[in-house]
Parts: sequence; C-alpha cells; structure tokens
Amino acid sequence: GKYRVISTKPMPGTRWINLLTQQDCRVEICTLTKTILSVEDIIALIGDKCDGVIGQLTEDWGETLFSALSKAGGTAFSNMAVGYNNVDVNAANKYGVAVGNTPGVLTETTAELAASLSVSAARRIVEADEFMRAGLYDGWLPHLFVGNLLKGQTVGVIGAGRIGSAYARMMIEGFKMNLIYYDLYQATRLEKFVTAYGQFLKANGEQPVTWKRASSMDEVLQQADVISLHPILDKTTYHLINKERLSKMKKEAILVNCSRGPVVDETALVEHLKQNPMFRVGLDVFEEEPYMKPGLADMKNAIVVPHIASASKWTREGMATLAALNVLGKIKGYPVWSDPNRVEPFLNENAPPPA
Ligand code: GLV
Ligand code: GLV
Repeated sequence: GKYRVISTKPMPGTRWINLLTQQDCRVEICTLTKTILSVEDIIALIGDKCDGVIGQLTEDWGETLFSALSKAGGTAFSNMAVGYNNVDVNAANKYGVAVGNTPGVLTETTAELAASLSVSAARRIVEADEFMRAGLYDGWLPHLFVGNLLKGQTVGVIGAGRIGSAYARMMIEGFKMNLIYYDLYQATRLEKFVTAYGQFLKANGEQPVTWKRASSMDEVLQQADVISLHPILDKTTYHLINKERLSKMKKEAILVNCSRGPVVDETALVEHLKQNPMFRVGLDVFEEEPYMKPGLADMKNAIVVPHIASASKWTREGMATLAALNVLGKIKGYPVWSDPNRVEPFLNENAPPPA
C-alpha cells in the first residue's frame, strides 16, 4: 500500500482493515499494551511518514499531535467515537488535517445502555444482585428492594439529539413514561412519536403519554423522575449538573449519564448521594476516567459501569468501519463523515426559545 494508516488501538472486526488494505493503504496497529497512550507514544507511532490516523477518545488530539501528523504528511484523523471533546478541531484545521467521528452506528446501543441503567437504578438490580450473592436472602418480604414504578412517571432528557431521542423512545414505548426534554433544537420527530403513541394508548383505553419541550433545564430537573444526560461535552456543558442543579431534582429522582463525565460535578454528586439515600444514579462515564471521585464506589445508590455504552459487537465493528472510511475518504478525496449537527455550543444564550 502506498498510504500509511495507523490505528492507535486494535479494533473489533476485520472489515475496517480490509477496506483500507484494498485501497492502497497499509495498516499499522499500535502494539503497546498500555491502555492509554500518551502524546509522546503517538508521536513515535506517527514517525516520519503517516497519511492518516484512527485514534481513541482517551487520547489528547491537540496542537502537538496535529502538528506532528501534518509534518509526517498526514491529512486525515478519525476518532473512533461520536464524541470529540478530546479533539481540538481548530488545531486540526490549522494543520490541514480533516477530522471525522462515528455517529449513527452507536445511537441505539448507547440508548439501550442508558435505558438499562435507568431500569436497573429504578429496580435496584445491582444492589439486589449483591445481596443475593452475599447469601443474605432468607425469604420473600414485602419491603425487600422496593423500587420505583416507571409507568406513568416522567422521563427527562437533556440533549435530545440522536442518542437522547432514541433513549426517550425506548423509555416512552417500553415503560409508558411521559416526556419532558430540554434542547436548543426542537426534537420534532420525537414529539410526533409521543403524540402518535399517546393516541394509540388512548384508543386502547389506556392513559396516554404526553410530551413537553421545557423552556429551561431547571424545568426538566424539577419535573422529571428519571433524567438522562445526552449533551456533547464542551465548555458550555462542563459541570452542567452541579450542586445547585442537583438540589432542584426530586429527592427520589434517578440520574443517568452516558455522555461525558465532566458534564456532572462528580464531587457534588457524591455528596448529594450521601445526603439523599433515595436518589439514585447510573453512571457510564466519570469526570477523570478511569478514576472515580472518593466515596462514589461506596454508594449503594449508585450503579457504575466502565464507559461501555457503545459496547455492542455490531456497533463497535461499525465504529471501526466508519473511522476507517473517514480516513480513507480523506486520503482518496471522498467526503469525510463529520458531525455537522452538533458542533454548535449546546447552551447558546442566544438560541431561539422553544416554539
Ligand atoms: C463514546 O463515548 C463515544 O463518544 O463514541
Ligand atoms: C410476588 O412474588 C407475588 O406473587 O406477588
């Protein structure tokens, strides 16, 4: 192959490798066994000649790396992720490197994990599992692991883009929850779905589900029973959920985060979990991965999983394939699959109010 393409990690499936090797690329996969590569590790990988790189969300793609890639003749970088808060897109532009991400293929998989965490928190599944394995179960009791019924409650979605909307549909259709959401953009298709599903339920003599587009985030926090966070991470969403906002939520609310850790002030969250034993969280992401803030691991009212929301076989192979296509496309002069829907700041003070 005449083009040298690097993947900083082995990735699932073989399709991504075949796509590249069939079109003049030779693929080199980093063989370092440590989980998180440093900037220096990646500079060494890039070397003197490198046309494109497939990188990971654990890596810091800033000025230093894009400058090194550009010096090595590289023009293409793709994150194997939909989120690209680890990528300085301006620096990439400055050095003439195109940036791609992998939206679409992980929407349903990620939404399914958010839904799983919501239900697991509502029904205290992890606590109950630990209880069982500890040999503590000595017979059925009326009070044993009583949780929340989701049916008829309100699901709150903060960030109703692809993933947030898919999650909302699962919770509405699966559990007959009402919807309240906050986003700068109107989620028209989601609203239509809830309306149609509500009509269907009504026609069957059941309580219809309802939807509401909130005019402020606080309205969601105050009204929802289950709140799931789906914004991008940028400076406008850093610590979006802080001490003050936590205090606005219902005492028995459930908070789920499958977006990015720094969207939540994790220290404030630990304190809130301590003060409010009925408040529960399901977390897939953490402020300083791979670490958890002190105390979080001891909280019975928290479910914690290691950033696995997109971890289905189909999705991970799809992400690898898309990332390869992004890099190949740029090298070959095809368009790069970028994410034009979501590059605007999430919380724009000047955004139009909800219709
Ligand atoms: C995973 O976190 C992703 O952004 O794809
Ligand atoms: C519980 O197991 C019941 O039968 O109600």
